[in-house]
Amino acid sequence: MNRSLDYRTDFYSLGVTLYELLTHERPFKSPDALEMVHCHIAKHPIPPHEIRPEIPKMISDILLRLMAKNAEDRYQSTIGLKRDLQRCLDDLTSAGMVSPFDIGAEDVSATFQISEKLYGRDAEISALMQAFARASSGPSELMMVAGYSGVGKSALIHEIHKPVTEKMGYFISGKFDQFQRDVPYHAFIQSVESLVTLLLSETEKRLAAWRKNISAAVGNVGKVLTDIIPNLEQIIGPQPDIPELSPVEARHRLNYVLGKFIRAICQKPHPIALVLDDLQWADSASLNLIRTLMDNPENRYLLIISAYRDNEVSPTHPALLSDLEWVTLRVDMAAVNEVIEDIRTHDTNLGESLAKLANNFDYGKILALIREYKALPGS
Ligand SMILES: Nc1ncnc2c1ncn2[C@@H]1O[C@H](COP(=O)(O)OP(=O)(O)OP(=O)(O)O)[C@@H](O)[C@H]1O
Ligand SMILES: [Mg+2]
Repeated sequence: MNRSLDYRTDFYSLGVTLYELLTHERPFKSPDALEMVHCHIAKHPIPPHEIRPEIPKMISDILLRLMAKNAEDRYQSTIGLKRDLQRCLDDLTSAGMVSPFDIGAEDVSATFQISEKLYGRDAEISALMQAFARASSGPSELMMVAGYSGVGKSALIHEIHKPVTEKMGYFISGKFDQFQRDVPYHAFIQSVESLVTLLLSETEKRLAAWRKNISAAVGNVGKVLTDIIPNLEQIIGPQPDIPELSPVEARHRLNYVLGKFIRAICQKPHPIALVLDDLQWADSASLNLIRTLMDNPENRYLLIISAYRDNEVSPTHPALLSDLEWVTLRVDMAAVNEVIEDIRTHDTNLGESLAKLANNFDYGKILALIREYKALPGS
């Protein structure tokens, strides 16, 4: 989650397959999709040798290494895995048992991997998660992440996707677009679309409960929403026609229904982290909706996190929300140096070159450069 997929994802799948093959059980069981995602992210499977004592402990360790939560902690190469399995086989053939050894001792990655972790943002992540914890049991909150372009606002916000899901929350996101400023509620609409996709993967029983809640909230004007969020029809079904109103009245109606809809989807057992990225390009209707959602203490179980470029001149935006909580991101040179140190341990020359650049370039450019480098074939 919030990490790119690579060959180590296949190691995870291989681990799960071998797990079932050897124990005759799946590592996690749940009829509920969200619960299942939660298990894969947060729960540790029972070690195979504890389910079937005839499985050698070393084989059990190898499977758990394949199924490590972080790709960095899994095997990094097929050769490393093969050597460990071969050793188990040799021991079993010669002695009928596998004696303990250090797994992964000959496991080295054939490609240069820079960790995708976020450097030096622990305090900010913790501030966002604390806000989520408060909003999970109380009135809605807004956290504004400000900083200039490339400083890591979006990267920071997406870093809480996994911990939010771990806490059984829904993480949904949308972004305002420079070229779609005349589309009202653009980022809200995208977020709701992503929520609908999540809800559609739930059990029929849960989906029926959502259908009931949402239909009750939108009443007979659900078409206001399905006109702009067509996939919502897959949950609440086709909606009856609605009376034509003047543009201003129609805007008020949409604002009202969207507010009711958001209140209906924010439920205690599944609080929502709603990301509205690139707020500098938001339309005024969206800003007003955020304000309305924040001002009514009856709105609960919702954390809105919005990223805002504070180097772009758009005087009205922050003013409207300036009394709410802001996290300002600045360049963290200690973090830049930490990235460079990490790279230096893999590739001394590249590390040295980046260290020289760090004095002349800005942070975003250095990180972009690193990512370009990573994307090169065979880099
Ligand atoms: N602390 C960090 N550790 C590792 N990578 C980072 C860090 N901060 C930013 N990055 C990387 O730098 C790049 C730029 O970050 P990001 O897109 O989050 O910036 P932004 O502030 O959202 O910019 P914009 O205002 O243009 O949307 C991304 O590739 C991101 O993963
Ligand atoms: Mg961004």
